[in-house]
Amino acid sequence: VNIILLGPPGAGKGTQAKRLVDGRGMVQLSTGDMLREAKTSGTEMGNRVAEVMAKGQLVTDEIVIGLIEEKITGHAGGGFIFDGFPRTLPQADALAALMTRTGQTLDAVIEMQVDDAALVARISGRYTCGNCGAVYHDQTKPTAKPGCCDVCGSDKMVRRADDNEDALRQRLMEYYKKTSPLIGYYYAKHQLHAVDGLAGMDAVADAIAKVLDRQ
Ligand code: AP5
Ligand code: ZN
Repeated sequence: VNIILLGPPGAGKGTQAKRLVDGRGMVQLSTGDMLREAKTSGTEMGNRVAEVMAKGQLVTDEIVIGLIEEKITGHAGGGFIFDGFPRTLPQADALAALMTRTGQTLDAVIEMQVDDAALVARISGRYTCGNCGAVYHDQTKPTAKPGCCDVCGSDKMVRRADDNEDALRQRLMEYYKKTSPLIGYYYAKHQLHAVDGLAGMDAVADAIAKVLDRQ
């Protein structure tokens, strides 16, 4: 099955995508991660992308569609989790065309519902392992040993450049203006499944598993 995890910044898309990778062997396609990788390449494109991301704005459709296209055509067979993509109606149309062209189907769109107050708390407490990408939180999911990754043991913990109040306000605005129309788009296509993203991580994972098992 191929699914989209749709939700505002901090809804838990990355957290749940990693669980699906571990539990079901699915393939996570996070445009945010891909763009952060491009940023470290030091190319002109990478630098431009980094500036846009740090402000909390969306990168152009052309760039992200190109990234996704590369991954899908290079990895036919699917079991894809689209994490943070699509984020605009043109991206959603491009994905539909791409799936048709590669002979695949999009099976479910999971909308993770979380209110703004919780998003702010989640984003401001988040840190990740700079080595393996594991995601932690100061209050809800700290590492067992302070400053040391539970998964790989690395002591390189990082906080994202866009996890500050100004950038987060902009990211939320971008979400409501440009991404939330996708909820209606997928509802109309009978592909939308809402889950309560405010529940604990295990409960959210169970709700997503139920949707997947019905496909
Ligand atoms: P991206 O990297 O996609 O960031 P985002 O959408 O803002 O989402 P986040 O990664 O912040 O949150 P998440 O939902 O994955 O939550 P997480 O699991 O980490 O995009 C970054 C930027 O890249 C964009 O602003 C844009 O500039 C650009 N970009 C990316 N894709 C693009 C596209 N398609 N088009 C254009 N531009 C694009 O969880 C958050 C925290 O909460 C963690 O600390 C976690 O431990 C905790 N948590 C998770 N679940 C729970 C739970 N159930 N209970 C309690 N705590 C929880
Ligand atoms: Zn690690």
